[in-house]
Amino acid sequence: MKLLIANWKMAPDTEAQAQALAKASAKLVRTYKKSTHIIVCPPVIYIPLVTKVSTVLAVGGQSVSAESTGAHTGEISAAMLKSMHVTYCIVGHSETRAQGESNELVKKKITLLLEKKIQPIVCIGEQSRDVHGWYLSTIKDQVESVFFDMPKVAVKRIVLAYEPIWAIGAQATRTATVEECLEMIMYIRKLISDLYDEKTARSMAILYGGSVDQTNAASFIREGGVEGLLVGRVSLESKRLEMLVKAISE
Ligand code: PGA
Repeated sequence: MKLLIANWKMAPDTEAQAQALAKASAKLVRTYKKSTHIIVCPPVIYIPLVTKVSTVLAVGGQSVSAESTGAHTGEISAAMLKSMHVTYCIVGHSETRAQGESNELVKKKITLLLEKKIQPIVCIGEQSRDVHGWYLSTIKDQVESVFFDMPKVAVKRIVLAYEPIWAIGAQATRTATVEECLEMIMYIRKLISDLYDEKTARSMAILYGGSVDQTNAASFIREGGVEGLLVGRVSLESKRLEMLVKAISE
């Protein structure tokens, strides 16, 4: 089973557009349910609407507060997500890290989500690459921080998403090659194997994200060593998303 995370980010602008998008996504879920598990991550304000469109839609959050309760204007708690039937939540996305979400905050959020039985989708990735491979230390720090003190039983509930920052969004310099992706996924599995064991590392769900579209999606799945994809822009275009899901389901 492949995993596809549709990260709508701060889009679309209107409720009507969100509804149309949710309907299109629900149709894809029904068509490809045997091969691909699709999780829609809308802006939090659209979550009730999305869950109402169809019970087949699995819904994820895009962020969560690092505090469980208290006076935190603008924040959404893990308990609130849970009460909205959210089953997954993205944490550590480069766009939230850029606003100050440190490894420590990411770790706190993971802990709160796990307590509420929401599966964290933890994004990791380097800002840029250098010829000496120093960027690997960024990945190592991020991975070690995620799994610090985490019992093996909890590891199964984590989804990691490798998202090189230079490959994300409209300002991306380029997409990662399948070889670059595979190399990094092998490195991440090695880190997990060192922290736990080989079996745990092999069974870890790792995704790739960053300029994924209908033309490159299947190759990441076939040759990139990943169990799924995290898709931003294309998740807002029903036609392209359908072609993408079809490509990875074949
Ligand atoms: P993109 O976004 O697919 O638009 O590059 C991916 C992401 O930010 O997760």
